[in-house]
Amino acid sequence: MNNIIGVGTDIVETERVRELIEKTPKFLERVYTKTEVDYCNGKKNKYQHFAVRFAAKEAIIKALNLKEVALKDIAIKNMSDGKPLATIKGGKNFEVHLSLSHSKDYAVAYAIATKKIN
Ligand SMILES: CC(C)(COP(=O)(O)OP(=O)(O)OC[C@H]1O[C@@H](n2cnc3c(N)ncnc32)[C@H](O)[C@@H]1OP(=O)(O)O)[C@@H](O)C(=O)NCCC(=O)NCCS
Repeated sequence: MNNIIGVGTDIVETERVRELIEKTPKFLERVYTKTEVDYCNGKKNKYQHFAVRFAAKEAIIKALNLKEVALKDIAIKNMSDGKPLATIKGGKNFEVHLSLSHSKDYAVAYAIATKKIN
């Protein structure tokens, strides 16, 4: 397991993200990709999905020790089985493994960054 670069975790209050989305029009545009917005808007408890993606981006920033990254450059998609998959714009030599969970009040994300093995 010596190819692990770093780990990161984050917890976000669902309500805080709901407020940011509803009261700050630029927040959605600044933080989420169109794919993420479409995915979350298609869900019953959409703010939980928005909140967990915010947590995921923060967890990835910690795992990779990124500086001055745009949150929108970190994109979360879901595989056909629902498993989340992260991509970072310009990121070539590493992979990020994600685990997400959310409830009515909180969303948590855990990220592990590993060196890409060719
Ligand atoms: C996938 C599963 C583990 C999600 O767990 P959950 O408690 O419903 O929901 P959580 O809030 O903890 O997790 C949701 C997140 O899990 C992630 N997820 C979904 N499917 C996944 C999978 N196959 N592998 C890894 N992560 C997955 C997603 O990121 C999702 O959030 P998102 O939709 O916003 O991206 C669950 O639905 C499941 O399939 N369990 C299998 C066992 C089962 O079917 N139990 C029910 C009968 S007893």
